Amino acid sequence: MNDQILNEISVLLKSHYHVINIETIDDDRAEAIAKEISDLIQIPFYIWSVHRGLFNYTERDVHPDTEDVFNLLSHISGSTSEGIYLLRGFKPFLDDIKVNTHLISLVDRLENDRSALFFTGKDAQLEDPLRSHVASIKLPLPSEDDFVVLLKQIYTDLKRKERIEINISKPDLDKLIMNLRGLTLFEAKKILTMIMVEDGTLTKDDIQVVIDSKKKLIEKEGLLEYYTAEESFGDIAALDGLKDWLKKRQIFVEKPDQAKKAGLIFPKGILLLGVPGTGKSLCAKAVSKEWGLPLLKMDPAKLYSKYIGETESKFNKAMEISEKMSPLILWIDEIEKAFASGGDADGGLSQRVIGSFLSWMQERKGDVFVIATANDVEKLPPEFLRKGRFDEIFFVDLPDYEARKSILDIHMKRREMALNLLNLERLAELTEGFSGAELEQVLIGALYSSFSNKTEITQEDIEEEIRSTYPLSQTFEHKIQTLREWAKTRTVSAN
Ligand SMILES: Nc1ncnc2c1ncn2[C@@H]1O[C@H](COP(=O)(O)OP(=O)(O)O)[C@@H](O)[C@H]1O
Ligand SMILES: [Mg+2]
Repeated sequence: MNDQILNEISVLLKSHYHVINIETIDDDRAEAIAKEISDLIQIPFYIWSVHRGLFNYTERDVHPDTEDVFNLLSHISGSTSEGIYLLRGFKPFLDDIKVNTHLISLVDRLENDRSALFFTGKDAQLEDPLRSHVASIKLPLPSEDDFVVLLKQIYTDLKRKERIEINISKPDLDKLIMNLRGLTLFEAKKILTMIMVEDGTLTKDDIQVVIDSKKKLIEKEGLLEYYTAEESFGDIAALDGLKDWLKKRQIFVEKPDQAKKAGLIFPKGILLLGVPGTGKSLCAKAVSKEWGLPLLKMDPAKLYSKYIGETESKFNKAMEISEKMSPLILWIDEIEKAFASGGDADGGLSQRVIGSFLSWMQERKGDVFVIATANDVEKLPPEFLRKGRFDEIFFVDLPDYEARKSILDIHMKRREMALNLLNLERLAELTEGFSGAELEQVLIGALYSSFSNKTEITQEDIEEEIRSTYPLSQTFEHKIQTLREWAKTRTVSAN
């Protein structure tokens, strides 16, 4: 698994690099790699942390007084033998100019031997002159093969201590492994151990446990929710243009290799603009079900933090998680809320987050299909709507007569209403200007009335409910008209 990385590092060492930054947050994996390097070139392996100081991995002896960074560097400098050193939690010390100076002179001292220092950290921004002495190497996330190796290892270890049975078919095991995607080895190890130790077997049921554990890990970050969608295209009336567009792109999940061979690239995403209650959110959920991809929902309202700097790091972290877990659907509901400026106190924050988001849309790695929805274009920054950010911008208007009929039909069937006793055409005529959400509410309201009368729902119950409803389109007629005008030249109709 690590062959390629080991190769790259060997080349760096041969090119006389003595300080290597492994770009990862997975310290355990970095440790495993540094250890393999030391085995490969057969020199001792040391681990340092500020709590423990420096210790020899094989002999397990600690070198006294090396908790202090300067003592550590002097110790390595004065050592007469070669070594591979993994410095855990070292990156923050690099902000200290004196540490930098020490490190540079240590590098000079190591010139003619094979010793090397490893530290971990993402996006290490090193200043000159240290920068030219440090090689950075990106650690890709563990692959499914890595997880299989890990699983075997855990199984072998556990079996020595207790009885563990494997009772899972190959396809189910593959599914379980696939669901580990996006986790670090450390996280995966905890989950895999837990599912086996818990009841002494590995079974099909553990797939759900893996999914749930992963859900918890993702939601811990606060911005993303792992959403389980039940809705499919069959639950959406009308919006045929949008549904067709999406169906055509399903090839990327059904036959990804074929699509890539044909030179097609994974779709970036769509923006669904429109009147509230017209099925935009519903569509996002249905795509996940139809494509069989996980759905991560981002809540823009949670983005702004009162702690400076936290907003951006939260946002970046969320984007990173979604890349790591790809392929998936990233659903940003009511995206305009993410960019609502926090007023003057905002300090250009929303502008920076917009910048981050747009550049992420362009540069991201991994197959992440973004579905953003918005009700209010006026709050969306214009750069957002420029061509090329999203594959397409769809406008979702209020349902017309036919669409209203099929929305009513879908929701009546779902609630097992006696359709033969109801005049659907008349209901559709009476509800001009109603959104899908409002049509659904009308039916729910009528159901309540009929329950209280202990009777089967009647045409009159529903018509009464319609008469007492004031659709949003009445109150916001002007606003909706403006939105329509705006959308005419800039968007594609979802219908
Ligand atoms: N085209 C539609 N077909 C079926 N149901 C719809 C449709 N549009 C809206 N609805 C109903 O209204 C509910 C709310 O719609 P939603 O997708 O949340 O609207 P939006 O996100 O556009 O504001 C949906 O869950 C669904 O029950
Ligand atoms: Mg919505």
